[in-house]
Amino acid sequence: MNNRPNYVISRRRLLQASAGLAFGALPLVRPTLAATGNEFRIEAAPGRASLVGRDGPHTAVWAYDGTIPGPTLRFKQGEPVRILVDNSLDEDTTVHWHGIRLPNAMDGVPGLTQPPIKPRETFTYEFTPPDAGTFWYHPHANSLEQLGRGLAGAVIVEEKEPVAVDRDVLWVLTDWRLTAEGGIASGFGNRMEAAMSGRVGNAVTLNGVVPDDQPVHAGERIRLRLVNTSLARIMALRFEGHRPVIVATDGQPCNPHEPEGGRLLLGPAMRIDVVLDMVGGPGRRYRIIDDFYEGLAYLLTHLAYTDDPPLRSEPLDAPLRLPPNPLPEPDLSSAERHELKLEGGMMSGMGMMGGGMMQGMGGMMGHGRAVWTINGTSMTGDGHAGMPPLVTLAQGQSHVITLRNDTAWWHPMHLHGFSYRVLARNGAPVPHNQWADTVLMAPRDTVDIAFVADNPGDWMLHCHVTDHQTAGLMTVLRVGGGRSKT
Ligand code: C2O
Ligand code: CU
Ligand code: CU
Repeated sequence: MNNRPNYVISRRRLLQASAGLAFGALPLVRPTLAATGNEFRIEAAPGRASLVGRDGPHTAVWAYDGTIPGPTLRFKQGEPVRILVDNSLDEDTTVHWHGIRLPNAMDGVPGLTQPPIKPRETFTYEFTPPDAGTFWYHPHANSLEQLGRGLAGAVIVEEKEPVAVDRDVLWVLTDWRLTAEGGIASGFGNRMEAAMSGRVGNAVTLNGVVPDDQPVHAGERIRLRLVNTSLARIMALRFEGHRPVIVATDGQPCNPHEPEGGRLLLGPAMRIDVVLDMVGGPGRRYRIIDDFYEGLAYLLTHLAYTDDPPLRSEPLDAPLRLPPNPLPEPDLSSAERHELKLEGGMMSGMGMMGGGMMQGMGGMMGHGRAVWTINGTSMTGDGHAGMPPLVTLAQGQSHVITLRNDTAWWHPMHLHGFSYRVLARNGAPVPHNQWADTVLMAPRDTVDIAFVADNPGDWMLHCHVTDHQTAGLMTVLRVGGGRSKT
């Protein structure tokens, strides 16, 4: 395995590339988060960031409060928050609070749940997060470009009682497609990519910078919150010499367990909280490798132990389980059943693109063309007024939705407004009481999810590979009324 992947941009090469260019010493804009109690204010604006190493050129980005990632917003479970969002971009935006169960009007889908925030306008979001955990925020307008140019940040909703760890650590992992000069590559919305794996880039940052060694202390226990804010890159993280224990998926506590095969699978928009006991020796370094794509494994970073003597001789004996969130438990015996079939993309062998795909690609230049379908229908773009719901779910009722991936591609399927129990995969029960808002589906996978439709409104369901979403792998589920209709 290479220490340096050929597709992760080489720092040295970038330095050479930039040697002749003049880069003004533009300081990074510091976070100006005006937080008064539970009130926050963030601004979406063009900015510059250091994505290719401290000595490399700055990259022109779009950012919240001038930082990549945007400021980490810390909310308290069960306490109301207000967030003012200023739009200093030259185009409409919105903010979507990914994974947080909130009123439909606060969901941030332009046209569907709110008017877009126009340039130089401000929108106020207000809600009370019911669940503690790791969430994130991002635009839901021109998503491919706004997310791909850097607009994303983490939300941490704190438990009422602190969890027994020595340190709480957040890693926001972001994939970028950069040019040799360190700029963000153009070409968002390439139709060919949209029908394949989406816009996977060539550089990965950790909390907005080229990952350096991550300093740790022998004997300490950390809670590590992993957030994948990439447009399309799926990650599979392996921790050399360590045994991470998963304690939450998409912010929701699960039964503590070690990941299958020792790899943490993290698709776009997904979060995993792990507890990590630092069982290595002082002064040692251990690799963290992402080997999701075959033949393209790369070194993400190192856990680098300080020389300090171990914090304790035995691993901490505190329980790993997080306190439960107030999630309504679906009643499977009375649940209504629905099926959503995903089709399309390259090499699907069936569906609208079957056989006709190459013809379809011929007209690739056209915009807004769907290459994916859900139950034979496609919604493209980001959300807009008058999107008719594909299914209406009776409010208050339990529902089981079978997601059937009849494509040759991976899809992290996301539902707004709810956390759902991941019941079964390909007919086998999913263990460890795992809940999610974004479930990663391998090609041909069938996944059953269940939830109580207690939150009325029109909710997006889409793939979080952003090119897939904007090219048709999206629909709307309506929760309301007393009867379901398909
Ligand atoms: Cu992260 Cu439509 O969502
Ligand atoms: Cu969402
Ligand atoms: Cu997808």
